[in-house]
Formats: sequence, structure tokens, C-alpha cells
Amino acid sequence: MRHFWWRLLIFLAAASVPFYWLYLAAIDSLGPDPGKVLVDNLGQGALVFLLSSLTMTPLQRLSGWAGWISFRRQLGLWAFTYALLHLSAYLYFLLGLDFSSFGTEAVERPYITVGAMALSGLLALAATSNRWSMRKLGKRWKQLHRLVYPVLLISLLHMLWVVRSDAGRWALYASIGSVLLLVRLPSVSRPLSDFQLRKKKSSKLNKS
Ligand code: HEM
Repeated sequence: MRHFWWRLLIFLAAASVPFYWLYLAAIDSLGPDPGKVLVDNLGQGALVFLLSSLTMTPLQRLSGWAGWISFRRQLGLWAFTYALLHLSAYLYFLLGLDFSSFGTEAVERPYITVGAMALSGLLALAATSNRWSMRKLGKRWKQLHRLVYPVLLISLLHMLWVVRSDAGRWALYASIGSVLLLVRLPSVSRPLSDFQLRKKKSSKLNKS
């Protein structure tokens, strides 16, 4: 497996953070409403992994190091895992496992429906992120995986709805997301690739 140690490091960091939060909750260090803090932290974690996964392609184009791409899938799968934990924490701590009230909540609080839409998108991406789906779907795989852009926008909308009074934090995530979407526009991504080509050519010339 390529870049095994880096992958292991990402795995260990991503897997241990929720346990650390649970530990903080157990020793009463998450404030008066630990359940809500866990829900919020896991939601933010999902967004951070989603943004990190989207950062890999521009980093590869800028640096020319193909290794970045090999972390993209892993980070995307962690975004899905954190989103699933976020939903589980919401059902457990905020709804007290009263599944029947989920429908009412979704109607009364549209941000829940928006969050569910984002999670469904992440599920479709995670389920088809394997080689078998790539082979089966062929050209349609790339089209399907463009779903990540609406998923990001919907997740940001979901967050904005929740953190209305603390828009500064949201603005930071939204700005990073906007830059990551902008660099995918052909008018921006082409010069980036050209820059990389020029760099490769000049280093070859310098060596010869
Ligand atoms: C069925 C799916 C989902 C449900 C039911 C859900 C539910 C919630 C709830 C209840 C809150 C706020 C709790 C509060 O502070 O009062 C919240 C906040 C949040 N959610 Fe979700 N969510 C879902 C999916 C997602 C997804 C897919 C993402 C990101 C990829 C996400 C990211 C966030 C973020 C960033 C926050 C704000 C956290 C903060 O205030 O620091 N959620 N969600």
C-alpha cells in the first residue's frame, strides 16, 4: 500500500478524536450540555474532513506530488464516518433514541432535512468510492462524484442554519470551501496545471 505510514497516521488521528471527546464528556469537561457539544464537534469534524478531501487535488496540481491524491478517498470516508457519528449522537443525546420524533423534527427544523440530504450524498459517494464501482460505472463515476460539490454547499447551508449567531466560524469554512470550488473552474485550474508543467520542464532542463 502506497504511503502506508501517512495513511496510518490519518487513521489513528481520525479514529482517536471521537474517543477523546467521549473521554472529556465522561470526566465532565465538555460543559453543562456534553451531548450537544459532541453533536456539534462531530458535525464540524465531518465538514473539516470533507474540505480536507477536496484540498487534495489542488495540492497535487500545485506541488506535482501525486501522493496527495492517495489520501483523498480516505479523508472522504472519514467525512462520511464523522457525519454518521454526528447523526448517531443527535439521535442518542438530543432525541433520546425517540426515533418517532425524527420526522417531526425534520418538518419543524428544515436544517435537519438539509443535513439528511448532505448525509445521503456522502453515503452515495462513500458507497461508490471503491475500485469495483469505478470499473462498473466507467465515465459515469466521475460525473457521480461531482456530487461532492452540492454536498459541500448543502453542508455549509446546514451549518449556517445552526450557527446563525456565530457566523464568523461559518464564514471561515465557507471561504475555504469557496476557494476549493473556485480552483476547480477550468479558467483557474488550467493555469495551475500549466505552472506545474513549466516547473517540471525547467527542472528537467536544469538536470540535463
Ligand atoms: C441526518 C443528518 C444530519 C442531522 C440530523 C444533523 C443534525 C444536526 C444538529 C441537530 C445540529 C445542531 C445541534 C445544536 O447545536 O443545536 C447540527 C449541527 C451541525 N451539523 Fe449536522 N446533521 C446532519 C448532517 C450533517 C452533515 C452531513 C454535516 C457535514 C458534512 C453536518 C455538519 C454540521 C455542522 C458543521 C454543524 C454545526 C456544529 C457547530 O455548531 O459547531 N451535519 N447538525
